[in-house]
Amino acid sequence: MIAYLPSAVAASMRVFFVCAILAAQQAWAQYFDVPYVPTPQVVVDEMLRLAQVGPDDFVIDLGCGDGRIPVTAAAFFGARALGIDIDPGRIAESHRNAKAAGVTGRVEFRQGDLFQLDIAKASVVTLYLLPDINVKLRPRLFELLKPGTRVVSHDFSMGDWKPDRVLTVQKKIYFWTMPARVAGRWKLEADLPGVGASTYELEIRQSFQEIEPFARTEKRNYAVWEPRLRGKSISFIIVDNDLAHRFEGTVEGNAIEGVVRTGAGTAEVQTAFRAARIGGS
Ligand SMILES: C[S@@+](CC[C@H](N)C(=O)[O-])C[C@H]1O[C@@H](n2cnc3c(N)ncnc32)[C@H](O)[C@@H]1O
Repeated sequence: MIAYLPSAVAASMRVFFVCAILAAQQAWAQYFDVPYVPTPQVVVDEMLRLAQVGPDDFVIDLGCGDGRIPVTAAAFFGARALGIDIDPGRIAESHRNAKAAGVTGRVEFRQGDLFQLDIAKASVVTLYLLPDINVKLRPRLFELLKPGTRVVSHDFSMGDWKPDRVLTVQKKIYFWTMPARVAGRWKLEADLPGVGASTYELEIRQSFQEIEPFARTEKRNYAVWEPRLRGKSISFIIVDNDLAHRFEGTVEGNAIEGVVRTGAGTAEVQTAFRAARIGGS
């Protein structure tokens, strides 16, 4: 039809259509942070296996597409699940897939922006987004998720937050456990075999799940060996009086409680320890 119009009108209509398409593309790019590409089912299964999803879990898929991750989590891992997607068409598809799998009672789908969703209830968060979107999302994960929550990402990492594990099964799968906040100074008390009642000041530096503790008493400083933080579980070794004292505890806010194993083999002795935060956060 444009061919029959005077050339000036046809040219301005072409300019109008090109501008309209560019504007629509720009609007789409602002609205959708990530285009729709489904995760292959094999990779979905491996993501949920890697996160050890089970009946006690609440899985949230951020940008759920056709709902395959929440539906699989509910149908084959017994979990409850929630998927959110910006695209109403994907949400309609997700509802159809949940119905076909017979899991409508255990999955929920919401149309909306993943950056607005309250994810605090999740015990597992799954992602198939983009590298820069993962990095943009990272502060929200640290702000809202409980320590111990597992995060699994198909294909893309999280900038300088190193994964706890990486699997490759057709595609790369990254896995993290949200670390407890342990940075700061702690007063650690234990009655250690071969040492007696002891109080150490423990100073912990933290970058994500990587920790660097230092210990001191009034008399001397101690190296702290093999420090490890996974979610709320913390462990480290202090060598005192020629004995290795292996601390394993659980972080709950400003307290750590756990056991110390001293000695080895049949000579191993187990005692309790506790630590309270005295500075930093
Ligand atoms: C790569 S697909 C992944 C789909 C699904 N999670 C999977 O793994 O099969 C990304 C999805 O994120 C959705 N999306 C993009 N930006 C979004 C946003 N800001 N909020 C919610 N969903 C979004 C897209 O519509 C798309 O369905």
